[in-house]
Amino acid sequence: MSPFQLTRTLPEDATDAALRSDVRHGLTREPRTLPPKWFYDAHGSELFERITELPEYYPTRAEREILLARADEIAAVSGARTLVELGSGSSEKTRHLLDALTGLHTYVPVDVSGSALTRAGQAIADERPGLRVHALIADFTSSLTLPDSPGPRLVAFLGGTIGNLLPDERAGFLASVRGLLAPGDTLLLGTDLVKDEEVLVRAYDDATGVTAAFNKNVLTVINRELGADFDPDAFAHVAVWDADREWIEMRLRSRTAQTVKIPGVGLVVDFAEGEELRTEVSAKFREEGVRADLAAAGFELTRWWTDGADRFALSLSVAREE
Ligand code: SAH
Ligand code: TRP
Repeated sequence: MSPFQLTRTLPEDATDAALRSDVRHGLTREPRTLPPKWFYDAHGSELFERITELPEYYPTRAEREILLARADEIAAVSGARTLVELGSGSSEKTRHLLDALTGLHTYVPVDVSGSALTRAGQAIADERPGLRVHALIADFTSSLTLPDSPGPRLVAFLGGTIGNLLPDERAGFLASVRGLLAPGDTLLLGTDLVKDEEVLVRAYDDATGVTAAFNKNVLTVINRELGADFDPDAFAHVAVWDADREWIEMRLRSRTAQTVKIPGVGLVVDFAEGEELRTEVSAKFREEGVRADLAAAGFELTRWWTDGADRFALSLSVAREE
């Protein structure tokens, strides 16, 4: 067994305040929105794990295929002694990377979901004697303070989660990641690629309804944390492809005219029949766009790999001199 340490950089009361502020702002403007990080309580993280196993949800399998093929090259190029993983979830695919990174000293998984993080971090520490695991409960969109550990650093951001940030948030996020690194350190980024609308929509609206349950889980979180009375069955899960912005948009559509009380923020919200609440975007990418976004943030993309069916890409980029 190797050392496992858990740091909560998000105090519980700060999390509550952030949820209240997001709900207050998101539900009092048109169109109504909620930020995606609130999907991931313990139940939400479990539902996401079930999504990754759905036949329709190809990104996890495609990314795993690339990681398996390229892990040795990633290890050689990065020479990483510290691996920081943002939005690590179950850390399942990361195991392939950990196997290849033979010189690794410290693994820092970062996630807002304390349950998923503790389980995965503890298991990895148990499996890998000699590896220090320092898990951080933190929001990767706010400024992170990393534990002291030896360089070079490799930051991994897998699963296409970068697509869940809006374009302006994405630019700020990449710049803040660059701020965590020294010149020569590396960033491994997973990006889902633009493809047929039908394939994309099915990945976010599966036949058995697991994705619908995941989307509606955000309502259950608000019910529990803020004493609200959302009836999840009174909303329909909707996934649409926005061809101009090249993103999938997840929404919850009110099946009837209804009023929802949210005592925790003192709100009473009226939904018209058919009114939609946007819960998430999942942007899809092209190589030129990823390269440009990274360049703007001070990274040089040096490797671009796709799976055999060109559905998903992993890229490796180097932090440039300032
Ligand atoms: N990397 C895993 C999980 C992807 S799902 C994979 O590739 O399968 C997205 C993960 O990011 C979830 O575990 C979720 O809890 C986490 N997450 C979402 N928004 C976050 C935020 N703002 N800060 C930190 N973690 C976040
Ligand atoms: N990062 C995942 C993605 O964009 C998150 C996700 C998958 C998701 N399926 C979902 C979020 C359904 C909301 C609803 O692919």
